[in-house]
Amino acid sequence: MREPLFSTRITKLFNIEHPILCGGLMWLADANYTAAAVNAGGMGFLTAKTFPDPIQFKDELEKALSLTSGKPIGVNLYQSMRAEENEVLEGHLKIALDKGVRFFETAGLPPTTLLPKLKEAGSIVLHKVSTVRHALSAATKLDIDAVTIVGAECGGHPGLELVSSLIHSVLGPEQIDIPVVIGGGIGHGRQLAAVLGMGADGVLIGTRVLVAEEVWSHAEVKKQIVNSGAADSTLVMSSFRNTSRVINNEFARAVQSLELDGIEDFDQYWPYVKGANAFDAYKSGDWNKALLSMGQSAVFADSVQPMEQIYDTLIDEAAAALERLHGLRTSKTG
Ligand SMILES: Cc1cc2nc3c(=O)[nH]c(=O)nc-3n(C[C@H](O)[C@H](O)[C@H](O)COP(=O)(O)O)c2cc1C
Repeated sequence: MREPLFSTRITKLFNIEHPILCGGLMWLADANYTAAAVNAGGMGFLTAKTFPDPIQFKDELEKALSLTSGKPIGVNLYQSMRAEENEVLEGHLKIALDKGVRFFETAGLPPTTLLPKLKEAGSIVLHKVSTVRHALSAATKLDIDAVTIVGAECGGHPGLELVSSLIHSVLGPEQIDIPVVIGGGIGHGRQLAAVLGMGADGVLIGTRVLVAEEVWSHAEVKKQIVNSGAADSTLVMSSFRNTSRVINNEFARAVQSLELDGIEDFDQYWPYVKGANAFDAYKSGDWNKALLSMGQSAVFADSVQPMEQIYDTLIDEAAAALERLHGLRTSKTG
């Protein structure tokens, strides 16, 4: 692990070496992923919804904590618009708190119903949104500790407004008093240095680490991501106000064609969009047969590497960016 290069409100809040957080990833953010991020000097968020069975969830938490030798881990609590999908979360939250987890990434709906329990236990809550407006509202109205703003480039849900991370990086820290993390399109250390320079306290990555060795998905899926450029993702489901950035593949194009035809009947989309497809594709390697979240930073994911190497590279690149900026200054003093 590299020596800490930056000290920010996020490194202090999570007591971590590097201001680089690995977001929740449905199906993929398991014990190995989460522990790898923590052991690389950052923070990872084990995705609660990936383990609907409480016993399996508890086992996974225990495994993650043993892999970090007890170093704290994070848990992702994503609340979807379909209430029935959130039913497991209350129970999972209790399990996580009982296991001593105190770092949480919330996303989707505002975590209003979860916050009393989270805060009563002394948890640190990082809430993820896709607009500066929502971030400001969450920061002022909710008892959260930090906020992540993801830009249009991100894998998963970029929201409806599709404003880039370059814009968020300036506006977010300018308007919001609590620590701000920037996600969406981040996959190079120069971006880390730039985002901190613009006022943020850390970055959140997802797509860049889809090719980490510790991620369990099939080699064919990782190969597709390694081979992807900045323009190889696409947007689907905007017509349902539930935009997703995914790999541009057969299923994504099938969904887009239904949307273009103005089809509103969700049943016609279901064979393509159901979540189990993604699990099957990660398992079989048939990456064309699911909507697989992937962002524009796939362009930086150019080989399968251990998580720690990805972190080290980000830090080395950020250090080089700082050097470059220093070299560009007209006055080298002060
Ligand atoms: C494959 C994949 C699955 C994701 N699943 C979730 C999820 O279950 N919950 C969540 O809050 N965010 C999820 N995200 C979003 C990430 O946590 C993170 O916000 C996003 O990847 C950051 O943008 P980037 O992809 O450009 O790095 C997912 C992202 C990807 C790429």
